[in-house]
Amino acid sequence: MCGVIGYIGKEGVAPILLNGLKRLEYRGYDSAGVATLGSDLHMKKDVGKVADIHKNINFLDVPGTLGIAHTRWATHGGVTKENAHPHTDCEEKIAVVHNGIIENFQELKRNLVSLGHKFKSQTDTEILPHLIEEIMRKGKNFHDATASALKVLEGGYAVLVLNKNERKLIAARKGSPLVLGVSDTGYFAASDIPAFLEYTKNVIYMHDYDMALISDNGLKIFNLIENREVDRKIDTIDWNIKQAEKGEFQHFMLKEVSEQVDTIQRAAQQNKEVIDQVIKELKNARGIFFVAAGSSYHACLAASYIMSKVSKLHINVVLASEFPHYEHYINDKTLVVAVSQSGETADVLEAVKSAKAKRSKIISLVNVVGSSLTRSSDMFLNINAGPEICVLSTKTYTSQLALFTLLSYALNDRYEEGRKRLNYLWNEIYQLTSATTREKIKELAEKLQDKEHIFLIGRGLQYATALEASLKIKEVSYIHAEALAGGELKHGTIALIENGTPCIVFVSEEHEKEILSNAMEIKSRGGYIIGVSSKNNEIFDFWIKVPDANSENPIVQIIPIQILAYQLAILRGLDPDRPRNLAKSVTVK
Ligand code: F6R
Repeated sequence: MCGVIGYIGKEGVAPILLNGLKRLEYRGYDSAGVATLGSDLHMKKDVGKVADIHKNINFLDVPGTLGIAHTRWATHGGVTKENAHPHTDCEEKIAVVHNGIIENFQELKRNLVSLGHKFKSQTDTEILPHLIEEIMRKGKNFHDATASALKVLEGGYAVLVLNKNERKLIAARKGSPLVLGVSDTGYFAASDIPAFLEYTKNVIYMHDYDMALISDNGLKIFNLIENREVDRKIDTIDWNIKQAEKGEFQHFMLKEVSEQVDTIQRAAQQNKEVIDQVIKELKNARGIFFVAAGSSYHACLAASYIMSKVSKLHINVVLASEFPHYEHYINDKTLVVAVSQSGETADVLEAVKSAKAKRSKIISLVNVVGSSLTRSSDMFLNINAGPEICVLSTKTYTSQLALFTLLSYALNDRYEEGRKRLNYLWNEIYQLTSATTREKIKELAEKLQDKEHIFLIGRGLQYATALEASLKIKEVSYIHAEALAGGELKHGTIALIENGTPCIVFVSEEHEKEILSNAMEIKSRGGYIIGVSSKNNEIFDFWIKVPDANSENPIVQIIPIQILAYQLAILRGLDPDRPRNLAKSVTVK
C-alpha cells in the first residue's frame, strides 16, 4: 500500500503536497517524492521518512500550482531512490505516482524495452509513463493515450499522471482507493480524505475504472469500461481536521485509544430503520458468513460468540483470504457480512466479489463510507469512528464490536437495552484510558519489555480478545505473542512455559473457574500471570482491573492491552504509528 496526493488550482502546490504526504505517511513510509509543473517538470524524491527527506532536500522548494506526490510501501523493487515515485518516461515528460500492483508489468516491460524504452527502476509503476509515451508517439493526445494505457493494465491502481506540456492532472483508479476533493481554489486527488481535509470537505468518491481529467476549466470523469463521461456526485463529509491530527498526544495510537470513550457512543448511534433492515436479513438468511481480515476478523469472532450468547444465532466466521474454500456453501439465500475498517482490503473485496457472483446478499460494516466495500454491498453500516491514522486498528476494532453488540441485542428485540449497555460503558472507558491506568500499565510494560514471548489465554469471548491482544503486542512491539483458547494450552503449547514466561489471562466472571484453572497450570510451571479481570486473585502476579461487562467484555478488556502494546513500543524505542513492514490498508492479495 502507498499514498498518492495531487493538486491543480490557484494555490502554491508544494505545501499542499508536503502536508498531504505527512498525512498519508501511515500508508507507507519507505520513501517519498513529488513532481510539480512550473516552467518545467520539477521532481524530488528519496528514501526515508517524509520529515527526514524534507529536511535533506526541501520539498517546499518546488514551484507551480499543479503537482503530484507519493509515499511508498515497497512491493516491486527494493527501497531505493530509483524505485521511489514519481516515475517518468524516457524523455521525462510524463510523471506518474501509483498505489497498487500492475500484475502484467513484466510482459509490458519486455515489449517496451524491445521498442527501445529505457527503464530506470525495478518498479511495476514505471511501465505506465513509458506506455503513455509510446501511445502518444503514435499520435494520440495525452488524455486518450492515458486511457488506452490504463486499459491494458492488469491488477490494481490508483494513479495520478502529469504531462510536462499540458496543464492537466489525470487521476484514475481500479481496485485501489482514490478520492477527489473540490475546493474554491482547485481540485485534489488522494488515496484518503485526511490528505486534503484541511482544505475541503467536499469529496467525490471515484468508482473503479473512473478516470478524471482535471484542468483549470473544471473536472470531467470518464469510465473506462462504460466508455463514456459519467456523473459522480459531490458529498460533504462530517470529519474534521482535528480528528486527523495528533493534538496534545505524542502519537496517533495513543490518541485513537483515548478516543474510544466517544467512538463507542458514536457507533451505538445508528439509524434504527437501517438496523431493522439488517436484522430482517440476518433472520431470513439461510447461512450467515462473517468475513474479514486481521483485527476485523477478531471482531467477527467475538461477534459470533456474542450472537450465540445473546441471540442464539449461528454465524460462520471466515478469514477473507480463506473464503474461496467455503464458496460451495454460498448461494442466493446466504448472507455475507463483510467487515473492514478501510473498506479497501483486497482479500475482503475478493470474497465479496465471489459471494456476489453466487447471488448472495452482502452487508458490510465499514469506517470509510464511499470505499470500495460500501459500493459493492447491498447495504452497509457505518461504525463512524472517524479517521484512524495509526496503522494499528484500535478504536475501529472496538467500534465494530459495539455495532455487533447492538445488532445482537436488536436481534433479540432488545435494541434499547443494547444501546444503553453501550452508553453505560462511557465511564468505564474513561477510567480505562485515564493517565492513572496508563501509569499502572507502564509498570507492567517495564517488566515485559525485554521478554521474547508472551502468551495470552481466554475462553469464549475472552478467546477472541486474547487473539486481538496478541496481534496488538506483535504489531507494535515486535515481541512474539501467542494467543490460545484456555482449554487448548494443555494440548501442546504448555511445553513452552518456563520460569518467568509471561501469560496474560482474560477472565470473565461467568467462566472464571475454568480459565483460572488454566492460569494455575501455567503458574505451577513458573509462569508469570497477568490477570485482566474484575476481581484480583492470588494466582495473579500482576492485576489489571477491568469491570465485568459481560457481552461487552471484549471492549473493556482489550483497551488496557492496547495501552500495554503502546507502552512496550515506546520503551523499546519503536514508532507505534508506523510499525515495520505493515500498511494501514492491505490492497494487495
Ligand atoms: C491490525 C490491523 C490489521 C487490519 C486488517 C484488516 O491492527 O490493522 O490486521 O485489521 O488488515 O483491515 P480492514 O479492517 O481495513 O479490512
